Amino acid sequence: MTDVNLKDTDWQLVINQITDEVKPLLQHGKVADYIPELANVDSNSFGISVSLLDGREYTCGDAQMKFSVQSISKVFSLTKAFSILQDDLWKRVGKEPSGNPFNSLIQLENENGKPRNPFINAGAIVVADCVVSHTEDSLNTIINFIRELAGNKDIKMNHAMFRSEKAFGHRNAALAHFMKSYGNIESDVDEVLDFYFGHCSLSMSCEDVSRAFLFLANHGIHPISKRRYLTASQAKRINSLLLTCGTYDAAGDFAFRVGLPGKSGVGGGIAAIIPGLLSICVWSPGLDKHGNSLTGVKALELFTTKTGISIF
Ligand code: DON
Repeated sequence: MTDVNLKDTDWQLVINQITDEVKPLLQHGKVADYIPELANVDSNSFGISVSLLDGREYTCGDAQMKFSVQSISKVFSLTKAFSILQDDLWKRVGKEPSGNPFNSLIQLENENGKPRNPFINAGAIVVADCVVSHTEDSLNTIINFIRELAGNKDIKMNHAMFRSEKAFGHRNAALAHFMKSYGNIESDVDEVLDFYFGHCSLSMSCEDVSRAFLFLANHGIHPISKRRYLTASQAKRINSLLLTCGTYDAAGDFAFRVGLPGKSGVGGGIAAIIPGLLSICVWSPGLDKHGNSLTGVKALELFTTKTGISIF
């Protein structure tokens, strides 16, 4: 992976420097407001958390502050659906970058209701349907699953966020009904949307998210609990999708600048992993025009540049 001497890397120093260097950028992003409750946040916040497979953790800034995980949670529902449906999942959702915004409806009709990938909203709604159709009490099941991955029983849904998503989620409702018309949604549309809005509305800190991503950096096994969540091959496939589709129509730019598989959310969080080494989460609510945290992408770019470690 690298000729960098990992023993010499002072992780705390690196993330302290990054936190200082990105400060001037904080005012340049735009906080998402298409879900009104999302705008209810301090745009000057910045947090960063690094979790190493050997158990060491390093944090700086607002790393303990809770934020709305939004699309980062799609990785957890995908993990659940993939472990339930195995490769049959890919009959329902594709594996190609969409090159379109995350909430776009444009490709769905041409492609007969099969979304391009599991991270655009249409794909995540199909994934949600897979979980809802195959689990009892699906929202509590996914919340408990995420709590277990993060090692934090206090992770909760933000109910005001949930209500706001539901009240303003007309595009998601359109996507779900449209896919239902193609037979690509099995369960009741409202039930599927409640599950999808529910996991997007979870509040987690950078520390929670970086811990919860560790299994993806470790071939599907959580390094602390030693529990296996995915096979090594499945973990490889999710990481590949994170690289190609995790930041939507900016995935090429993100790969170019950061060089890591990563997943963003419109709450301003971005989680990324370095296989065999660590997971990292950055959070800053101001977004760029693609819906990714403007300062968060820069912070991750600085992280791989300063440490000399990426997947390439
Ligand atoms: O469905 C939505 O629009 C949001 N719950 C999630 C979108 C999101 O986080 C896209 N990420 N950058």
